Amino acid sequence: MVKDFYTMKADEPVEGTFAVSNVFLRTFSGSSTFLALNLQDKTGIIPAVLWEGAEKVSKVIKDGYIVFIKGKISFYHQKNQVNIEKIRIAEDYIIDDLVPSSQFDPNDMWAEFCGIMDEMVDEDLKAIWMSYKNDDEFVSGFIIAPGGKGTHHTYRAGLLEHTLSVLKIVKAYKQIYPVVMKWDMAYMGAFVHDIGKLRAYHQNQITISKTNNGRLHEHSALGYHMFLSRLADVVESIDIEKMKMIIEDIGHIILSHHGKFAPVKPMTAEARLIAELDLIDADLNYFYKFEDKVDDDGWYFDHLNDQFFLIRK
Ligand SMILES: [Fe+2]
Ligand SMILES: [Fe+2]
Repeated sequence: MVKDFYTMKADEPVEGTFAVSNVFLRTFSGSSTFLALNLQDKTGIIPAVLWEGAEKVSKVIKDGYIVFIKGKISFYHQKNQVNIEKIRIAEDYIIDDLVPSSQFDPNDMWAEFCGIMDEMVDEDLKAIWMSYKNDDEFVSGFIIAPGGKGTHHTYRAGLLEHTLSVLKIVKAYKQIYPVVMKWDMAYMGAFVHDIGKLRAYHQNQITISKTNNGRLHEHSALGYHMFLSRLADVVESIDIEKMKMIIEDIGHIILSHHGKFAPVKPMTAEARLIAELDLIDADLNYFYKFEDKVDDDGWYFDHLNDQFFLIRK
């Protein structure tokens, strides 16, 4: 399993069946050609290189293919990678063994999610929630969508796992601060804050990639647009003034949920709460992503944040 590779010693042999991604033919020192690629199974992703016959192999092995490899661990740029010695297209594999997924069952998470959302008392927000809940196409996409590609919840059903966590913490806060804010608005905001990710990312059976819309518009703007479109379902039944407030306040939660990095700063109590909870949940999930990659003392250097993390064993 890939996660075992992170801590193996140089020259230890490895073999197995993996999905490949980011396959690129590269040159070293302007002359030798090698193939750089990622190997993936449900436990993680590790970079790999192949030197012998790289050009020939590059014509056969493409992103998303499933391969059987034999090779050795090597140490490069302070991290383990796999030096592939033999590679061929795999014939027998179980796809679920190769795709990273949430540790929680999507149907269980969805049932828990619905249980909390159903507690809302505001009839208008409830009507909007029911429009989503009764939309089978939306639900089937939402419960398996990844939460992202590069940072947090980057696996199948990651979006639901993250959204459920944020919703559960909102519920916990409601018990601590029972009267201060519009809790149903916070519930709805928690639910829809990242729905734009459904259009920002595409997951084929193996890999997650950003869509054109994801790159060009980003998931907050996409989510705002998706939420406005959804209101067409309930426009007849909601008073115009109330509708205006829902668009302003839920729209604001979606557009401000990245706090100081958002196009607008969170300006309502509900938006500030969701922005903070989003950050906490995303950050902790990102932190534990490196659990299997720490050295013997528990340290990991995170290049993205340019800092060490310590995960004590
Ligand atoms: Fe987000
Ligand atoms: Fe989020």
